[in-house]
Amino acid sequence: MAVDKSDLIMKGYVDIAVEDSVNMVEEIGRMRREKNAIILAHFYQIGEIQDIADFVGDSLQLSQQAAKTKAEIILFAGVYFMAETAKILSPEKKVLIPDLNAGCSLSESCDPEEFRKFIGLNPGHIVVSYVNTSAEIKALSDIICTSSNAVQIINSIPEKEKIIFAPDKNLGNYIKSITGREMRIWQGACHVHEEFSLEKILEIKNKNMDAKIIAHPECEQPILLVADYIGSTNALLKYTKSDENKKYIVATESGIIHQMKKVNPEKLFIPAPPENATCACNDCNFMKLITMKKIYNTLRFEIPEVIVEKEIRNKAVKSIRRMLEISDRLGL
Ligand code: 13P
Ligand code: SF4
Repeated sequence: MAVDKSDLIMKGYVDIAVEDSVNMVEEIGRMRREKNAIILAHFYQIGEIQDIADFVGDSLQLSQQAAKTKAEIILFAGVYFMAETAKILSPEKKVLIPDLNAGCSLSESCDPEEFRKFIGLNPGHIVVSYVNTSAEIKALSDIICTSSNAVQIINSIPEKEKIIFAPDKNLGNYIKSITGREMRIWQGACHVHEEFSLEKILEIKNKNMDAKIIAHPECEQPILLVADYIGSTNALLKYTKSDENKKYIVATESGIIHQMKKVNPEKLFIPAPPENATCACNDCNFMKLITMKKIYNTLRFEIPEVIVEKEIRNKAVKSIRRMLEISDRLGL
């Protein structure tokens, strides 16, 4: 009897047990070669997944890889908007995500209908949206940015133009403070980066006066004000390589620490604590829905697949390509 693939992903992922005897790392490697597939992983994935990926990076690097890969299948170990961006850039490829429930609270904080109204209330503005948005929001935008190129994207817009920035209010306010540009900012946020406690970070700092605080710009302003360095995940990683300090308090999702330790085995990295000490809130629960077992089953059955409606894709691709062109031109 033929298996209906949609029955296999009733929960948003292939929920089939994997025998203990299966060596998942080897099998994933074999299927990847046989199917001409590439695994792209974000820095917020667990270390084991980062280690088997063909490429690990931040949002900008991953979209650059998705745009240029020659593979026939892209398996995205990250959240939905990232896989969707890959599909928009490479519509002829099969893009797989191991769990369709891997969303993003920041992306969710910007509803397309509300955003359309917001644009209508601010006519004549250039619309810059963060990559952490749905395809519908990208289709309503003029340029996309990520945390590693947001400042340069805003600076590329002529001074006389008025700007809407969405959806992250913390990143928006940070860029506004750097560029001095007036912007209408959508009031969205990421639940992981809003959860860090300034008080607890300062407590750790007081006990480790030799530690530097490094933070992602999605953190709230009081945390950014005490940070020694602010940057995207890749910028933070690069900073820990080039900087001479030996100890860092890291205010972003804890997955990045895996790479930081790999490239700086002699240095100490302390995850910034969240407000609620009993939760693992500095782990993104959406990112952590991706597991080795789900990757294995996804490669095996080639589901769940990411599909983007053609009309939305045709609009969204323009704003993403504009970002990639500016980034290429600036060597980012
Ligand atoms: P990066 O642009 O640093 O990859 O950030 C993505 C993200 O989801 C941050 O929460
Ligand atoms: Fe979205 Fe925040 Fe998770 Fe990044 S860390 S994917 S912004 S919910």
